[in-house]
Amino acid sequence: MPAFPAMPTRAGAGAAVAGAAVVAVLSATLVLYGPPLDAVLNRAFPLHTARSVTDMEAALQLVRNVVPPLAACKHKGQAGRIGVVGGCPEYTGAPYFAAISALKVGADLSHVFSTQDAAAVIKSYSPELIVHPVLDSPSAVQDVEKWLPRLHALVVGPGLGRDDVLLENVKGILEASKARGMPVVIDADGLWLVAQQPALIQGYRKAVLTPNHVEFSRLAEAVLGDPLDGGDRSRAVLRLSRALGNVTVVQKGEQDVISDGEQALTCSQEGSGRRCGGQGDLLSGSLGVLAHWALLAGPEKTSGSSPLLVAAFGACALTRQCARQAFQKHGRATTTTDMIREIGPAFSRLFETSAGADGGVAPTGELCL
Ligand SMILES: *[C@@H]1O[C@H](CO)[C@@H](O)[C@H](O)[C@H]1NC(C)=O
Repeated sequence: MPAFPAMPTRAGAGAAVAGAAVVAVLSATLVLYGPPLDAVLNRAFPLHTARSVTDMEAALQLVRNVVPPLAACKHKGQAGRIGVVGGCPEYTGAPYFAAISALKVGADLSHVFSTQDAAAVIKSYSPELIVHPVLDSPSAVQDVEKWLPRLHALVVGPGLGRDDVLLENVKGILEASKARGMPVVIDADGLWLVAQQPALIQGYRKAVLTPNHVEFSRLAEAVLGDPLDGGDRSRAVLRLSRALGNVTVVQKGEQDVISDGEQALTCSQEGSGRRCGGQGDLLSGSLGVLAHWALLAGPEKTSGSSPLLVAAFGACALTRQCARQAFQKHGRATTTTDMIREIGPAFSRLFETSAGADGGVAPTGELCL
């Protein structure tokens, strides 16, 4: 197999041709389970020729393709307005981490919908967030629903807790988001709710679930009657995704495994050995923005791969890169706050197209800040 071809730029005549090469190489990194695709890919690139560094690079290029160029950022709000649903008196850090991460990835505005008691606390962490103290109100669903037309994606679950009243409200919010066709990232106790009532997201293709190992087992048990732990992780994640009607599932772990029911992709970007609480919130908040961008860009920009699969890969790679950079500076003292400080440089490093390779092409991966 020849060396990986020059990276396409988003704008430019060669993009389509180079894009085809990218998908061919990317596909070699995917574990494929559908006979028609297998046939196509075996013709293009036999699986055994795949090299993992090249594969990661090809997948990262698809993420670059969906990052909106600076020129498109003239109107405030175009880069995305994200809502985080979560935050109760016990947990105020998680919704803050998710919402600030969304802003630092490039969202124009981040809203948090938390309980009344938690709102002032979350606001006090940052003047940059808009915090609505509505989640435990009797009119919570309507209060959030009226904001939905102004939002592009929701992240549901950070710091939610398991209070029955809150979960019932979140169920209503999820239903309202589905009715509007909004992308929804579900994490933490949002996943606990989904494990209780899988029908809530069954077949909703704009949902992305981001379980850790325990949450994954709980979901698999609820949906398939089998915790699916041990054995082939790619196959397990793919099975859960299919059983949920091809909802995108990201299983976080030593490597992150992502599936949309058709393909399973592994993100092995080097991270750190540190496992501080809050990393998952960085991932879910980033993913809210990337999911919006990827759906806006559409499958042409992701060379036929599912936009949400590409977005999820991007969020995993970014989170791991942040962990790595923060760890290089702080070692075992690394916390999520240190990782969040690395979002800007990590994002540039991974996703901003540099002028170097093709010569004279202006950087187009800038963010709207
Ligand atoms: C999910 O994707 C697989 C692979 O493409 C396909 O065979 C299956 O029919 C899809 N399921 C649904 C519910 O769309």
